[in-house]
Amino acid sequence: MATLDTHGRPLRDLRISVTDRCNFRCVYCMPKEVFGREWEFLPRDQLLTFEEIEQVASAAYGLGIRKIRFTGGEPLLRRDFPDLVARVAAIGDIELTLTTNGSLLAHNAETLAAAGLGRVSVSLDSVDDDVFRHMNDVDFPVDRVLEGIEAASAAGLTPLKVNAVVRRGVNDQTVVDMARQFRHTGHIVRFIEYLDVGTTNGWRLNEVVPASEILAMIAAEFPLEPINPAYRGEVARRYRYKDGAGEVGVIASVTRPFCGDCTRLRLSADGKLFTCLFSNRGRDLRKLLRTGGDVADFIASVWRDRSDRYSELRTVATGDLPRAEMSYLGG
Ligand code: GTP
Ligand code: 5AD
Ligand code: SF4
Ligand code: SF4
Repeated sequence: MATLDTHGRPLRDLRISVTDRCNFRCVYCMPKEVFGREWEFLPRDQLLTFEEIEQVASAAYGLGIRKIRFTGGEPLLRRDFPDLVARVAAIGDIELTLTTNGSLLAHNAETLAAAGLGRVSVSLDSVDDDVFRHMNDVDFPVDRVLEGIEAASAAGLTPLKVNAVVRRGVNDQTVVDMARQFRHTGHIVRFIEYLDVGTTNGWRLNEVVPASEILAMIAAEFPLEPINPAYRGEVARRYRYKDGAGEVGVIASVTRPFCGDCTRLRLSADGKLFTCLFSNRGRDLRKLLRTGGDVADFIASVWRDRSDRYSELRTVATGDLPRAEMSYLGG
């Protein structure tokens, strides 16, 4: 029996953040003014251990979860991360995926695949080197991310998705180049509407480029036709190039929210459960883990109580509420 929330949505996916650290300082996610030298990341004893994460994943499996995504920060910064992948892969028939900025992927791809990872999604906001260096704010070059993508693809971590957050006046002029770059590669680029997650990025609605506009820019160059979702609750809307060059997607969480099908539970690196990307409050699972409580029972009760649908309710007023940061919650 699936575990259902108050709107009848089943618990299907778990997103596990394994670290709140990142080697990038994307201006919309970890702006340097906030995440500078003085910023205190989570101390090691507050992070869930691999044993604890495995315990949570295993309880989640028992509750019907069949898809787990590792996120961060940047998950590949967590020491011995492939060992965690292997532990979780051994639990059962789970679709295992990873969201990464790609900077350390060239080194790790083979090991990750061998450990049982199924596929990866790489964040890359632009293929224009100047624009990308500016956006990651650590002067990281596009080429090294492309090398990571190629290594992951060669290791069989496919279908590989490339996620690009679009911000007006920052990288919207490079959308078509981005689409062009990945045509005929088998990789699927998804353009993401800039979201009002966290409170440090100073999000403004006028910086959001609506998915409809993104699609129109691409279609003007490369005609597109819509295709069906790959699975119920898929957040991306999918399109195929009419000339057969592959697939692209848009994630329209601002202009076309998809809370109705939201089946995702999030676990922060310090062991708090969040039932929405925009929650301000996580439920402390670490304490329970460390005092020998019933993990499955706790997860199920948190999910059954859930009524979140932030994106559907988004209003000017909700903009001022406190929220967790994306780098902590993992996107
Ligand atoms: P696949 O398993 O490859 O289909 O991944 P996905 O479609 O679940 O997307 P992914 O995890 O790569 O998320 C991409 C982006 O979509 C995130 O960075 C967010 O910006 C947005 N997103 C994902 N899940 C949610 C969600 O539950 N709510 C909202 N509002 N946005 C989400
Ligand atoms: N809006 C949309 N996506 C975001 N991400 C980080 N911050 C935001 C935001 N404000 C994305 C990253 C990455 C994933 C982890 O979350 O680009 O693809
Ligand atoms: Fe790091 Fe991803 Fe945030 Fe960029 S968006 S700072 S790569 S966690
Ligand atoms: Fe799910 Fe919250 Fe995103 Fe809606 S806003 S889709 S409830 S995570």
